[in-house]
Amino acid sequence: MEVVRTIKDLSKIIDNQRVSGSKIGFVPTMGALHQGHISLVKRAGEECSFVVVSIFVNPTQFNNKEDLERYPRDLGADVALLEKTKCNLIFAPTAEEMYPEPDTRAFNFGDIENVMEGVYRPGHFNGVAQIVSKLFDAVRPDNAYFGLKDFQQLAIIKKMVNMMNYPITIVPCAIVREADGLAMSSRNKLLSKEQRENATVISKTLFDAVKLKDNYDVESLKKWVTETINNNPYLDTEYFEIVNDTTLQPINNWDEKVNKIGCIAVHCGKVRLIDNVMF
Ligand code: PAJ
Repeated sequence: MEVVRTIKDLSKIIDNQRVSGSKIGFVPTMGALHQGHISLVKRAGEECSFVVVSIFVNPTQFNNKEDLERYPRDLGADVALLEKTKCNLIFAPTAEEMYPEPDTRAFNFGDIENVMEGVYRPGHFNGVAQIVSKLFDAVRPDNAYFGLKDFQQLAIIKKMVNMMNYPITIVPCAIVREADGLAMSSRNKLLSKEQRENATVISKTLFDAVKLKDNYDVESLKKWVTETINNNPYLDTEYFEIVNDTTLQPINNWDEKVNKIGCIAVHCGKVRLIDNVMF
């Protein structure tokens, strides 16, 4: 497994793989890898003959400077984890490599970005689209793997691929959870012991909400979830929305004939956690 730092070195390897007919699978990440990321790499290894993982903490998608500075980074540990998978190539560029010029491109994804993360993290998805489009241009994968943990991000990426006619298949992958239900996240490393223990209330409440659904209308269930989580002194809900899984617009009643997903963002001290569940 090779680690390359520049687009030039990456391109040479990708060109050779293309000539030899490899099917290229790509997993973009920001590092601090955990089993959630590894599940994407494994899936890519099952479906593709050459697997590229990128590790890059993308500054343009952070709307909060402190969050960017505190984001966990450990390339050595990431490489060690990936050694145990079928990853063939790690692309770990510098910010100067990815942004030789400030990226002034402004994407407009319409209604799907005007809700949830789009409201509370202004500019976030524009930064995600900037970096993922640059990475897609550099890697030119056949398949790219994204976690359902970041449900809205996945919707944005699918839309970007359609808008820009990328010949790339986007493969959604299931959320991987800790044994106690907490969705795996690089940010979990930033939680104190007490915060980590209390953070399990988030997924537990989402799972309970699915079971309780028939006892409540949509508005009351949203209120119940928010109140249950906020009753925990370590947790503060930023939003909880139950939305149509395609348009990402809030649903008003359970009879609507669409797939429904409950998406949540919760502050646990300075750490912001997201999760979701299908209804
Ligand atoms: P990052 O948060 O490192 O996540 C990389 C990929 O791993 C994303 O597709 C994310 O949805 C997936 N992932 C994270 N935790 C997961 C879990 N518990 N189960 C399943 N999949 C999980 O998302 C990003 O990085 C960045 O925005 C990126 C797309 C790399 C652009 O910078």
